[in-house]
Amino acid sequence: MAEHQSGSFPRTRMRRNRRDDWTRRLVRETRLSVDDLIWPVFVRDGDQADEPIGSMPGVFRYSITRLVEVAGEAAALGIPAIAVFPVIDPSLKTPGGEEASNPNNLVCRAVAAVKKAHPNLGVICDVALDPFTSHGQDGIVRDDYVVNDESVAMLVKQSLVQAAAGCDVIAPSDMMDGRVGAIRDALDEAGFSSVRILSYAAKYASAYYGPFRDAVGSAKNLGGGDKRTYQMDPANGDEAIREVALDLREGADMVMVKPGQPYLDIVRRVKDEFRVPTYVYQVSGEYAMHRAAAERGWLDWDRVIMESLLGFKRAGADGILTYAAVEVARKLREQGT
Ligand code: PBG
Repeated sequence: MAEHQSGSFPRTRMRRNRRDDWTRRLVRETRLSVDDLIWPVFVRDGDQADEPIGSMPGVFRYSITRLVEVAGEAAALGIPAIAVFPVIDPSLKTPGGEEASNPNNLVCRAVAAVKKAHPNLGVICDVALDPFTSHGQDGIVRDDYVVNDESVAMLVKQSLVQAAAGCDVIAPSDMMDGRVGAIRDALDEAGFSSVRILSYAAKYASAYYGPFRDAVGSAKNLGGGDKRTYQMDPANGDEAIREVALDLREGADMVMVKPGQPYLDIVRRVKDEFRVPTYVYQVSGEYAMHRAAAERGWLDWDRVIMESLLGFKRAGADGILTYAAVEVARKLREQGT
């Protein structure tokens, strides 16, 4: 920073601008708005009541009917988009994850119902086979290895049925090589040229996904397995830049960094390097740890959740996937922001 921008004490006193609420508001650099929020939601078959998820207090698995209702509440609050995650009946899971490409599967029915009721709410669908595979991996397994090209072929089929159901944004979270380009070509060929691709470009092999795997029921299928042969090593930063560059070249409209809080440096680097719409996922484990500490009275939930999201904005994110989206949207509305 240039010397003249910061004088020296005692002429310069940094605390002056912090003295009153009105100056603090005037000098504030970053703001969180409802437009920054994407709400991930879990849907399951059947008509049962909302089912709580033990490791994610305040988060539920919804029936399609209830999903349509809560999606309406999110839309009314001004949340731009939801991301739909299916809880697939174990009897439909196979080694090849074929149910993912069934045009009448749970995700497709849920997306069609939500879009019919709320055409102006954006709907994002994950592309990865893990909710559908009996082994819980995101792709097809041959000789104990998740094979790339064969998995991509299946992910393309999954993308096409989701787009046909009315999904606005295809979000590949599988980390196979070349999948963004393959999906883009297939979407265009099938007449879905305005369906967007939000690539989970820098997705790390993280222990913070634990509660999500409970929520969709893939933890049991995965057993003790991990995803380190395709998700990124948490030690790597430069590699995230290469991943994002490749996905953009293949046609991604938006990119994501995931998880969030331990990877704020990656968010900043991606935003600075590419200047493209950059999203960050505050994943299930981040939500769970804030919740758990708040339940014990160790942290003030309202304040820490807002601070955690503001941190993502400050790091350069254009938007945040957070399980707290609806609560936060209500709070922003109360605050009149
Ligand atoms: C599926 C997928 C995962 C998450 C989003 N999509 C789990 C995983 O990769 O094992 C994690 C989301 C979260 O933890 O909130 N590929």
